Amino acid sequence: MRQKIVAGNWKMNGSKALVQQLTSRIGSEMASLENGVGLVIIPPALYVPGVVESSSAGFGVGVQNIACWESGAYTGEISAAMAIDIGCAYTLVGHSERRQLFAETDEQIAAKVEQAVNAGLTVILCVGETLEQRDAGTAERVVSAQVRAGLANVSDDQWPNVVVAYEPVWAIGTGKTATAEDAQAMHVAIRRELKSIGAPADNVSILYGGSVKADNAPALFAQPDIDGGLIGGASLKADEFMSICRAVPGGY
Ligand code: 13P
Repeated sequence: MRQKIVAGNWKMNGSKALVQQLTSRIGSEMASLENGVGLVIIPPALYVPGVVESSSAGFGVGVQNIACWESGAYTGEISAAMAIDIGCAYTLVGHSERRQLFAETDEQIAAKVEQAVNAGLTVILCVGETLEQRDAGTAERVVSAQVRAGLANVSDDQWPNVVVAYEPVWAIGTGKTATAEDAQAMHVAIRRELKSIGAPADNVSILYGGSVKADNAPALFAQPDIDGGLIGGASLKADEFMSICRAVPGGY
C-alpha cells in the first residue's frame, strides 16, 4: 500500500539553533508515533547537513529545489547528485513559490524531476491551482496538466521515487484550507491522471499542503486518497508538527 508521509518544508526560515531544537524534539518523539508515518524534514539547503546529523532518529531529509542540469557552470545551483551525496533522500520540485516567484516552467520542472529520479532521489512534485483558476472552474484541468507535464520524463522503474503534493496556491500561508472533501476530490483527479500516464497510481503517495495545522489535519488525513501532508508554517513549531504527524491514521 501507499506510504503515509508528513513532510515539513521550512522554506527560507530557520537557524542553527532551530535545527538543533526541532530535530532533537522530533527525533525523541518519533519513536512514540505508532501510525507508521514517514517523516521528512526539508530545511534550507545550508542547514541540510545539520539536519542529516540528527536523521539517525529515523526521519528523511530533503532539499527544497534542485538544478535541472547534472553539473557544471551554473552558479548558485545545487545538483541532485550533491543532495544525495550530503545525505538527502528527497527533493521538492515545482513548489508554487518556485513557479510564481522564479518563473519555473513545466519544462524546467520536468527536467528537475528527471535529474532527481535519475540520481535516486524521491521527488515530491508540487502542483496546485490559483484562486482565479479555481473560481473559473479550471482547477482540475490545471492540476492534471501540471502532473502530466511534470512527470513526463519518469520511466516505468522510477515511479517508486515519485510523490505528488497537491497544494492549492490560495491555501498556502493564508490560513485557508481546502475542505477535506474538495481536497479528496482533487486527489482522486490526480490519481486518475497518474493512471492515464502509465503510473502505478494506487501506489503513488499524494500529499495535501496549504495551511495544514493540528486542528484540520485529522479531517484531511481521514480521506482515502490523502496520504499525508506537506507542511509549511506549522513545521517550524515542534508541538504543532508532531500533532500533525500523530493525526495520520494508523493501521497501514
Ligand atoms: P503553509 O503550511 O505555511 O500554508 O505552507 C504550505 C506549503 O507551501 C508547504 O510546501
